[in-house]
Amino acid sequence: MKQLSNRQILLGITGGIAAYKSAELVRRLKDHGANVRVVMTAAAMEFITPLTLQALSGNPVHTTLLDPEAEAGMGHIELARWADLILVAPASADFMARLANGRGDDLLTTLCLATPARIALAPAMNQGMWRDAATQDNAELLRQRGIALFGPAAGEQACGDVGPGRMMEAEQLAELAATLFEGRALDGVQLCITAGPTREAIDPVRYISNHSSGKMGYALAEAAADAGAQVTLISGPTQLACPARVQRIDVVSAEDMYQASMAQMGSCQVFIACAAVADYRPAKAEEQKIKKSRDTMHIELIRNPDIVSAVAGHPQRPYTVGFAAETQDVLRYARDKLQRKNLDMIVANDVSDSRIGFNSDDNTVTVIDANGEQRIEQMGKRQLARQLIANIATRWSQRD
Ligand code: PMT
Repeated sequence: MKQLSNRQILLGITGGIAAYKSAELVRRLKDHGANVRVVMTAAAMEFITPLTLQALSGNPVHTTLLDPEAEAGMGHIELARWADLILVAPASADFMARLANGRGDDLLTTLCLATPARIALAPAMNQGMWRDAATQDNAELLRQRGIALFGPAAGEQACGDVGPGRMMEAEQLAELAATLFEGRALDGVQLCITAGPTREAIDPVRYISNHSSGKMGYALAEAAADAGAQVTLISGPTQLACPARVQRIDVVSAEDMYQASMAQMGSCQVFIACAAVADYRPAKAEEQKIKKSRDTMHIELIRNPDIVSAVAGHPQRPYTVGFAAETQDVLRYARDKLQRKNLDMIVANDVSDSRIGFNSDDNTVTVIDANGEQRIEQMGKRQLARQLIANIATRWSQRD
């Protein structure tokens, strides 16, 4: 069940006798490669201990909203963002009612309100409670809001009743959770992105660099991870936080970035070169700080390796996308780079305008490949990144 591999699943457990099955569910999700964190309501802890779930998940269990110690570790908003899926199993009638009413009166309901991730519930309750009109209305409302309901199954219940209300078995729930990850454009694709500037040392305190903030590359990494890719972000020095579900490799110089990129060859299927790599570096980085004894100073510069050209020329060549940052004749230079660097696609970026390009929140680009040229008008870099990743995913799916 590769769809669960590396997925981040927040398992919510509410108060019901079926909570004992949640321990098995943690194991099944982990067996299928998911990373699992557990959140328990106060009622859930009457049925099963946090210690059991901590041991099985390998992570601390979250139980209260207002716990300064837990907030210092992974705060509730971070937890809501961390999740690819919130799976609540068992979901009691009371929990469903609170969720349907938009309540945020405990950690789990708050996380469900805050998360951008999908939510799935595995209802478990007495058959009379499940059949009750209020529960049925709540279930319908939650479905309409896009929340997936897994079950409940019918059969003999802990209370002796027979009917619908049993929580589905752990393996069935894991299979249903996996279906929620099917069909994403870059599912399981190994994708590597370079981002940010490089710094080329002159001496221990000085360097040559450029104005790249990393915003464009980080937005691409986030969008690619959301499209299901396994993303490695090779980043020069930036002030940005690493997007969720992205593995970041920090580098400083062009040579470091080259080495880190080459190490990805063989496993990387799509490579996006968004970094503003310094074309030259000082021939010699002085070991001691240079003193200002002279009026003029000459630094000899030598060429850095061209990373994206080396990637595109590699025997295990990934689908290779470059950027072209230009201040004049943008399209002509970009077309030339597409050919010369042997790329599959180039994203032409006019960096003469401070509202777009380096360090801005917005960008305007033209995407050029064998199929033609497409201009994308000014928009936020995160929105643009989604569009670029959708373009790349289409081309990737059409490859020979
Ligand atoms: O980081 P931001 O502030 O958000 O700004 C985004 C950006 C302007 C940096 C980005 O959108 C962009 O245009 N990145 C490419 C910058 C660049 O170096 O362009 P270039 O035309 O000099 O290089 C062409 C391509 O070759 C690029 O894909 C570059 O990553 C790659 N290259 C260049 C030199 C080199 N030694 N190795 C390379 O791989």
